[in-house]
Amino acid sequence: MKNVLIIGSGISGMTAAISCAERGMHAILVSPFMSERSQSVMAEGGINAALDNMGEGDSVSRHIEDTLKGGNMLAGEQAVTGLCERAPDIIRWLQKLGTVFSLKEDGKIDQRAFGGQSCRRTCYCGASTGKQIVSALIMETRRYEAQGLIERRVWNDFHSCLIRDGKCYGALIFIESTAQLEPVYADAVIMATGGQNAVFGKTTGSTQCDGYAAGKLFMQGAELKNLEFIQYHPTTMETSQKKMLISESARGEGGRLYYEENIGGEVKRVYFMEDKYGEKGNLMPRDVVSRCIYNVDRQVYLDLTFLGDKIDRKIPEVRDVCMKYGGIDVHKESIPVTPSVHFFMGGLAVDDDHMTNIDGLYAVGECASRYHGANRLGGNSTLAAVYSGMKAAEAIDRKISSDSAQTDARKEAERPDFTEYIETERAKLFGLFESESRFPVMYIRDMTAETMNKKLGIVRDEENLSKGIEDLSYYIDMAGKINYDKSVLPYFNYSVQAILVLAKATLICAKERRESRGAHYRSDYPETIEDMRAATIISYDDGAFNIRLDREGRYEN
Ligand code: FUM
Repeated sequence: MKNVLIIGSGISGMTAAISCAERGMHAILVSPFMSERSQSVMAEGGINAALDNMGEGDSVSRHIEDTLKGGNMLAGEQAVTGLCERAPDIIRWLQKLGTVFSLKEDGKIDQRAFGGQSCRRTCYCGASTGKQIVSALIMETRRYEAQGLIERRVWNDFHSCLIRDGKCYGALIFIESTAQLEPVYADAVIMATGGQNAVFGKTTGSTQCDGYAAGKLFMQGAELKNLEFIQYHPTTMETSQKKMLISESARGEGGRLYYEENIGGEVKRVYFMEDKYGEKGNLMPRDVVSRCIYNVDRQVYLDLTFLGDKIDRKIPEVRDVCMKYGGIDVHKESIPVTPSVHFFMGGLAVDDDHMTNIDGLYAVGECASRYHGANRLGGNSTLAAVYSGMKAAEAIDRKISSDSAQTDARKEAERPDFTEYIETERAKLFGLFESESRFPVMYIRDMTAETMNKKLGIVRDEENLSKGIEDLSYYIDMAGKINYDKSVLPYFNYSVQAILVLAKATLICAKERRESRGAHYRSDYPETIEDMRAATIISYDDGAFNIRLDREGRYEN
């Protein structure tokens, strides 16, 4: 039987596992937390598909056009076409599995307006769409678990992949309950580990998504792409723990952004987005809205008060978050909002099959870079998570069938011997455990987050990026000398270096892209340069970071 190892069990990981099982393959689904705690449950606003349930003449070609335009023409047309064409079927599949969508009176799925879209296209369930999708996928995963086609392993952390001569044979997994490193061999490995929130500390997402897997694979030879494109969501609410997302659906349902100005002794509201962009101003693509808020340079508010009971019917979760975390009654008061890191358009570079440059190693969901170009449209990430999970499973099924069919015994006999690698990694890890605690790794992570937030904000420039690279090089050096910090889990100790390497790679990409495009705005290079309509690809070789612009589109088309 074909054996696929999947790391990460949110929407993309579970979809990949289910799609493998549907094809009769065996999927081992590994994650540090159960799916109920994956970042996917935090997805609020919805999932896009050109169903045209609102009768506005929507079509797949309009969805493609909006996505390409929203991404500042950096995403590949073939990739985006595949995504948008499959979207209606994906909604039907999710509904069949039991995803609860908000419906219109005629029984069809309701669709709402979202940023950068030419018509109402986003299917949703209140503002808890991620939770609904995750619940349905969990049920389907359990069904296949009962049939023995999916094997769940929770409280297991990714350590590294087993790679030899450019081919991946499985992964080393850290088992939390036994504190052991164990190899898991497979015909293919799919990474579904999300973005790199923890690199920035407080974001709208989960710090479980820390970028370690991408950083480690980068150090093991995987290429990364377009890391400089980091999405700042325009409307978040600051709390001591994190940046609470105030879903774009609040603006989709009519919410208005404004700031206050004292004009002739009278405090007046300035609806700056509407003043600049007209009726659709509040729903411009996120990079545009965030930059406008940045330029306004004062407290911005989101007003929902005039929406009345629409708030309770359409976005009750937004109402609850504001009351619970900010003590704000959105029926009566405006919400103070700031842009915060929300999504990573960059990540592991993958081809049309979602395979990385390492044979047999795939990446799906937010850890892969493919559909969103320089800026993602809201509602396209949940879609891409499902679509990419399906695509990878289909490709693996095709590839393994076309490779010579092998028995398990023959596969094992032909597999390279990883004993030395495994023993070396075990010795390194247990060496850490046995050493005396000297330096708090969490301090280094905090310093990294501080550097990244300061140097890689909404507006960047050469001087700050260079200084950030210098700081990160210092921390990487320091992390190499750290002894074990007993106050945190082993995972935090062995992961810190690769996280820092990923952070440095991100700064290097941002420095190398000497233009402004989408979410990457350079005050020293404010123009978009046609000749730079190409992916930034970065690779790592024994401490050296090598960067190039990929104009051939190997990863796009
Ligand atoms: O604002 C939101 O609800 C976010 C949606 C998304 O990132 O797709």
